[in-house]
Amino acid sequence: MHKHHSALGLAATPLGNPVADIANSRPAQPVTLLRPHAARRAARFFVDKFPGRSLYAVKANPSPELLKILWDEGVTHYDVASIGEVRLVHETLPEAVLCFMHPVKAEEAIAEAYFGHGVKTFSLDTLEELEKIVRATSRDGVAPTDLNLLVRLQVSNEHAKLSLGAKFGAAADEVKALLFAVRQAADALGICFHVGSQAMTPSAYAQAMSRVRDAIVEAAVTVDIVDVGGGFPSTYPGMEPPPLEAYFEVIHSAFEALPISYSAELWCEPGRALCAEYASLLVRVEKRRGSELYINDGAYGALFDAAHIGWRYPVRLIRDGGSNTRPMDFSFYGPTCDDLDHMTGPFQLPGDVANGDYIEIGMLGAYGCAMRTAFNGFGAERTEIVDDEPMATLYAGETKRSNVVTL
Ligand SMILES: Cc1ncc(COP(=O)(O)O)c(C=O)c1O
Repeated sequence: MHKHHSALGLAATPLGNPVADIANSRPAQPVTLLRPHAARRAARFFVDKFPGRSLYAVKANPSPELLKILWDEGVTHYDVASIGEVRLVHETLPEAVLCFMHPVKAEEAIAEAYFGHGVKTFSLDTLEELEKIVRATSRDGVAPTDLNLLVRLQVSNEHAKLSLGAKFGAAADEVKALLFAVRQAADALGICFHVGSQAMTPSAYAQAMSRVRDAIVEAAVTVDIVDVGGGFPSTYPGMEPPPLEAYFEVIHSAFEALPISYSAELWCEPGRALCAEYASLLVRVEKRRGSELYINDGAYGALFDAAHIGWRYPVRLIRDGGSNTRPMDFSFYGPTCDDLDHMTGPFQLPGDVANGDYIEIGMLGAYGCAMRTAFNGFGAERTEIVDDEPMATLYAGETKRSNVVTL
């Protein structure tokens, strides 16, 4: 992996842009561009400003380099959802605290996490899962006394761009019995929820917190942890959310209004917001057909969401001298032999984009690079570190914006 510096740095290019420097080497495969400084800035922001503890949701991007960056900036707790993630984070960051926040787990995974990796925190949304956790963590028939168990509530996902609302979460009429049973089994009892990914308004959290309040009042149990989950947005074309501080304020006041706030801990589990700006992709145009560009990455690479749920990402042409042609809307075809490998966008680029041009696709650090497959023999082996600004940012106030594009 090489490091490329921006203008006046070691490897300044004709455009004074480290990404142009890489494009000038004419890579035949897509190149993943990493911006560690952007991940550092996001981690610092959550560590300093979220009014509680921030757990990184590893699924968003499990790269060991990223995990180390977050750890260095003070993220000590990690939301893991599979035994693979448990093993990876424990090996990469042996001192990290792991929280197994998938409400439906294999019993073998629970046992290995607890006995093999020191995991004490688990989420659940049914009595069956509670029994599973207790069984898997008991020794010689004796139940453990050191479990932190969080009951996941079903909450509205109406304000999120990507719903996680149908699959998990105890319904309102199940919560009381569940909280009661979990209170007996847990050292610390928590309540968690997920408002859906890319929640576009802070009120999503206020609504969910009122469900937490109802649950606490109805069950009349002491709750030690309130975990507001993930859902903190990043910024993409057509999806510009309010500042993250607004989310933190709403969450803080809703938490303070809970009857247990004086003794409970407040947690969150950001994935996307911590790593979206960490990575982008440099692709090459292999063919143009009207407004369709055939590029060398796609649905089976880092563009799963662009293909399957029409997610739009910022794009820019990386060409010496740029282009004076007016922008127009393009769609992309990926490299596999499959019609599904199609990203409708629209992606706005200069109208003269042609074969052999390079395009940077931004904001792929969350749920982009993480979902890459090797289907059809395509991949992106080359990775470069660049130190310029990501193509968009929610953390602009934290540092100067240089080449941040308007979405
Ligand atoms: C339990 C849990 N926590 C946190 C996250 C991270 O969500 P986001 O990336 O929207 O912040 C997810 C995402 O699926 C999740 O399932």
